Amino acid sequence: MKLNVLVTALSSVSAVWAAQLTQVSNYGGSAKAKPQMWVYKPDSVKTDALVVAIHSCQSSAQKYFQNNKIPWKQGSDRKGYVTVWPSSTTECWDVSSKASLTHDGGGDSNAIANMIKYAIETYKIDPAKVFVTGGSSGAMMSNVLAATYPEIITAVSLYSGVPAGCFVSSSGQAAAWNNTCSGGQSRASGQQWGNVVRGMYPNYNGTRPRMQVWHGSTDSTLSPNNYQETIKQWTNVFGVSETPTSSKPDTPEKNYRTDDFGPNLQGIWAQGVGHSVPSHLDQSEAWFGL
Ligand SMILES: *[C@@H]1O[C@H](CO)[C@@H](O)[C@H](O)[C@H]1NC(C)=O
Ligand SMILES: *[C@@H]1O[C@H](CO)[C@@H](O)[C@H](O)[C@H]1NC(C)=O
Repeated sequence: MKLNVLVTALSSVSAVWAAQLTQVSNYGGSAKAKPQMWVYKPDSVKTDALVVAIHSCQSSAQKYFQNNKIPWKQGSDRKGYVTVWPSSTTECWDVSSKASLTHDGGGDSNAIANMIKYAIETYKIDPAKVFVTGGSSGAMMSNVLAATYPEIITAVSLYSGVPAGCFVSSSGQAAAWNNTCSGGQSRASGQQWGNVVRGMYPNYNGTRPRMQVWHGSTDSTLSPNNYQETIKQWTNVFGVSETPTSSKPDTPEKNYRTDDFGPNLQGIWAQGVGHSVPSHLDQSEAWFGL
C-alpha cells in the first residue's frame, strides 16, 4: 500500500472514533415546542460541567458547531466539558410568545430546560455547573432562560442580545421579530425591566444565574441601547446599583471595557465592534469558572 493511501486509511479510522456532534432524539419533558437536541461529548471528559451553546438566527446546531468563529467545540476538547447544542425549528428562537417567556410555559425555553435536565441525568453533570452561552438570537434566548429557569442555570455569557422580554409579541406570535426592541426604542427603568424578569417565574425566590453581557457600540442589527437596558434589567434583579463597582478600560482587549456590578453581573462594552461581538472563549470560560 502506498504511504498516502495508508495515511488516508488511518485518518479515516481515527475520524470514525473521534467524538462527534450527535442528536438526542428523545430528551423528554412535555413542552409543546420541539427544538432538536444535539450533544458533543469530547473524547476525554475531564469535568462534570455542561455548556449549552445557543445558535443565532438562520442557523442550526450543526452550522453553529461547525462555525470556526464559535469556539465551544475547541473549549470542550481542551477542557473536557460536555456541550449541548439546541437547534431551533423556526428561523430565530422563540423569545416573543407567552409560552416561551414563562417558566414551564411549553415554549422553546421550556424545551431547552428539558435538554439541560436530560443532560444532567445522562452525562452525570453537577447541577451547580450548568452554563449557557449564545450569540444574537441565542443571546436573547440566554437572557430568557436566565429569567425563566434561574434554578437550573449557574451562569450565562451572552453576546449581542436584548433584555429578557424585550422581543415580546403583543399578538402572542412565536419567534416574531420586534423592530421596536431591535431598533433600541424599548427603553424602561431598571424596576420595569426587573419586573419583566420576575414576572416570567412568579414567586421564585432562589439564586439567579451570574450574568456576563457583551455588546458592540456599532451594532446595527440589535441597537447598542439594548446593552444599557440589559444592564438595567439585571442590576435591578440583583438589587445592585447601575453604577459599576469597577470599570476596566481596554479589557479584555483594546477598546473593550469591562464593568462589574458586584460579583453577579459583568458588562463588556466593545467600542467600534458591530453585530455580533466575536466569542471570547477564555473570558467566557473564566466567567463560568472553567
Ligand atoms: C415589541 O416589544 C415591546 C417591548 O420591548 C412591546 O412593548 C411591543 O408591543 C412589541 N411590539 C409588537 C409589535 O409586538
Ligand atoms: C421561598 O419560597 C418558598 C416557597 O414559597 C418558601 O418555602 C421559602 O421559605 C421561601 N424562601 C425565602 C428565603 O423566602
